[in-house]
Amino acid sequence: MASGSWEEFFAVHLPPPDFEDNRSLLKEFCERHDQYGNKIVLVTSGGTTVPLEHNTVRFVDNFSAGTRGSSSAEYFLEQGYAVIFMHRLKSLEPFTRHFTGQKLLDMLEIQDRGPNTTISVKPDSVDVLAPILLRYKAAHAAGAILHVSFTSVSEYFWLLRAACECLANVGARAMLYLAAAVSDFYIPKDRVPTHKIQSASGAPIIQLHLVPKMLAPLVNLWVPEAYVVSFKLETDESLLIPKARAALEKYKHKMVVANLLQTRHHRVILVSPDITQEIVLTREEVHAGVDIESSLVSEIVRLHALHMCARGERVSPP
Ligand code: PMT
Repeated sequence: MASGSWEEFFAVHLPPPDFEDNRSLLKEFCERHDQYGNKIVLVTSGGTTVPLEHNTVRFVDNFSAGTRGSSSAEYFLEQGYAVIFMHRLKSLEPFTRHFTGQKLLDMLEIQDRGPNTTISVKPDSVDVLAPILLRYKAAHAAGAILHVSFTSVSEYFWLLRAACECLANVGARAMLYLAAAVSDFYIPKDRVPTHKIQSASGAPIIQLHLVPKMLAPLVNLWVPEAYVVSFKLETDESLLIPKARAALEKYKHKMVVANLLQTRHHRVILVSPDITQEIVLTREEVHAGVDIESSLVSEIVRLHALHMCARGERVSPP
């Protein structure tokens, strides 16, 4: 079934309640960094949901823990970028991603002395915590990162378009790094029931419709000067590169980072009109906890610099 147009999608799906607040934050952030000639990257991260009910009890989800996006955001900060981190609520975030589950609590010790109780970091955890905490504090003190969050695919698109409207003025210094896992299917708003679907009525038949691909207006209309990197996730190796190439040809953006679900944390393939380049972590690097995003982001930053030069843009060093 053909998808409706992107204009139709925005006409039918109303903006989320906190949209105007987020739009103001995005505008202020982009204007502030643009004024200093900074490079700004929009990193999208995590999966979008498609609600099956307006009062949502059930939803269809796209798989993504947010590892790629949250880790990449840290490396972009290190490279001197201002980062808009647009993420799925409750998915991994930069810096705190290192302390999921019980890790942070395990690093602390407590002297239980009633009203004089003290809590401190265990001596052998200081080396782990200190460098991350220092980078976190520095990024926030410099106002170098802005967090905005989404849950559903329509919230994602409203935020994406608002961010693009602000980034349009930044021209070639803007980068879009679209690592979020975005739904290809949804249920049009007028077909979504208000209340929880009742099992007493029998098994529901739910027809999903195609979501319009937002990369098309994004590249051509919203941020025509920006360096746009999209991601391609597949589970079948034989489809990966052909689909990445097809996306580049169709949307005419700068790069597709192709990855397989099974190997995404130690292998990515950068596909651009001129080159196909693989980044693979060795077994030792995987064991040492090296992030593949470190090399991935370095290479993309290098290519972004060439893009800026080609457009006569001068950049302030990191
Ligand atoms: O978070 P992790 O667990 O670390 O996993 C990272 C990742 C595997 C999710 C990430 O590396 C990744 O591949 N993200 C993109 C997944 C995805 O949505 O691929 P896709 O083939 O469905 O979409 C391709 C591109 O089209 C995406 O950049 C997306 O922004 C764009 N798109 C998708 C749907 C849509 N309606 N409009 C779009 O523009």
